[in-house]
Amino acid sequence: MDVRFEDSIDVMKDLVVLGMFQEDEDTCYKFLNTVFAKELQEALALGIFKKTFGELYSTKFAGFGYRRVLVLALGAKEDMSLERLRRLLAKAVTYTKLYTLESFSTNILSLVESTGKFSAEALGMAAAEGIFLSNYSFKKYMQPTPETTEKEIHTITLTWMKEKEAVQKGFFQGKIISECTNFAKDLVNEPPMLMTPAFLEKVAEDIAEDKRIKLRVLDKKDLEEKGFGAFLGVSKGSEHAPKLLILEYYGSDEGPTTALVGKGITFDTGGYNLKPTGSMETMKCDMGGAAAVLASIKCAAALGIQKKIIGVAPVCENAVSGTAYKPGDILLAYNKKSIEVTNTDAEGRLILADAIAYVEEKYTPDVLIDLATLTGACVVALGSSISGIISTDKELQNALQKAGEESYDRVWPLPFLEEYKESMKGTISDLKNTATVGYGAGMITAAVFLSSFVSRAKWAHVDIAGPAFLLEGKEYLQKGATGTGVRLLSYYFLSHS
Ligand code: BES
Ligand code: ZN
Ligand code: ZN
Repeated sequence: MDVRFEDSIDVMKDLVVLGMFQEDEDTCYKFLNTVFAKELQEALALGIFKKTFGELYSTKFAGFGYRRVLVLALGAKEDMSLERLRRLLAKAVTYTKLYTLESFSTNILSLVESTGKFSAEALGMAAAEGIFLSNYSFKKYMQPTPETTEKEIHTITLTWMKEKEAVQKGFFQGKIISECTNFAKDLVNEPPMLMTPAFLEKVAEDIAEDKRIKLRVLDKKDLEEKGFGAFLGVSKGSEHAPKLLILEYYGSDEGPTTALVGKGITFDTGGYNLKPTGSMETMKCDMGGAAAVLASIKCAAALGIQKKIIGVAPVCENAVSGTAYKPGDILLAYNKKSIEVTNTDAEGRLILADAIAYVEEKYTPDVLIDLATLTGACVVALGSSISGIISTDKELQNALQKAGEESYDRVWPLPFLEEYKESMKGTISDLKNTATVGYGAGMITAAVFLSSFVSRAKWAHVDIAGPAFLLEGKEYLQKGATGTGVRLLSYYFLSHS
């Protein structure tokens, strides 16, 4: 797809998309064509078109090169935001595809710029995200019929009357972030029969083609030798051997080290505490944290982030078989703490426990961020629009919350409560993997469990169980995988490198 910044609308495109601020109704497009201005006025008077944000009105009138006109209501100027810009451009992309058109030209970007509220770079970034995130689809397993084969958009022109360098720089970054987010979506959307630990290792190998990235893989034998008892316990029921994937990104040799740890359960049946029908169907998304970590390392390299970042993904399947772990088993974690398995469905914290303890010992990171589709409790608390965050470091939490607001890959804080440690203490072991029955606060107790494996890093736990996988598409996100975490981390790195 070719995207260009031009001084004015290109009427030779298939579709012309015109923005209209609520305040500008009278002055807006009279200059363009009186017939059209009249039509728009009538549509507004009749209520066919409304001025509230996101409303659209489409028409076609003769005389120009384009095949259609789409008017998009931008809402009030003071309510304009970068997220609104993403959504507006996503609407333009979706509309273009719906009518199998191949190009559009729009003045929306320069109209948003005229509010004076945003930098050129931020506008370029958000514009790219709106375009490339909404342009995603996962159709590789569908027979190519005229209905399923989407027409690709060839060209988009965005009006921009000022110096183009900054907007283009932002756009370039936004395009990289979107492509890496879409890459993560691809990984999560793959069926679990294919998305095995070995498959993800291949993916990591491809990412490590970049010479600033080094891949280290600990396979089953290494894990046994090194004592990853919790991780191995979870993986025991599966045909597919576990892998600990480590991508070391050296964007800088000096300065602080950031570690990212992503939950990589390629499918979560629940184990012997089997998930019921209705809860299991989407569980291929349980490697969404690992996908986000791998994609974020790829993204950091493409953006040229000048930082040392270690991406770690413990990857295995939580399956049921004669060899699977059972409630009552006691696992010895990497840091020598013993854990009684009180529920085989609370497997994510077990694999993260070992990965976190290992990364702490091996890399002594200054900052450690884990991302995991960890608890249904987080989904109950926050739904699918926002991830939960629990951190023992206010500054880190604030920085991630800010990155979340800006990227709109948002996180909402829940407290870390020391007193809940009691609920995770074992009776015949150091710890148990679920809280005492009826305790509540499932997302917090999960984080409290994980904290036993963090030693010196500033740590934040991000529970992405809600937003990682959607049952319905919305705005620029499709039904299915969303790539949650990639935009959050990329924005965080851009403001912290
Ligand atoms: N993978 C699930 C959490 C999940 C739920 C992810 C919904 C995405 C959407 C996790 O492994 C799990 O099953 N957690 C249990 C923990 C419980 C047994 C303490 C849960 O949340 O029910
Ligand atoms: Zn589970
Ligand atoms: Zn799980």
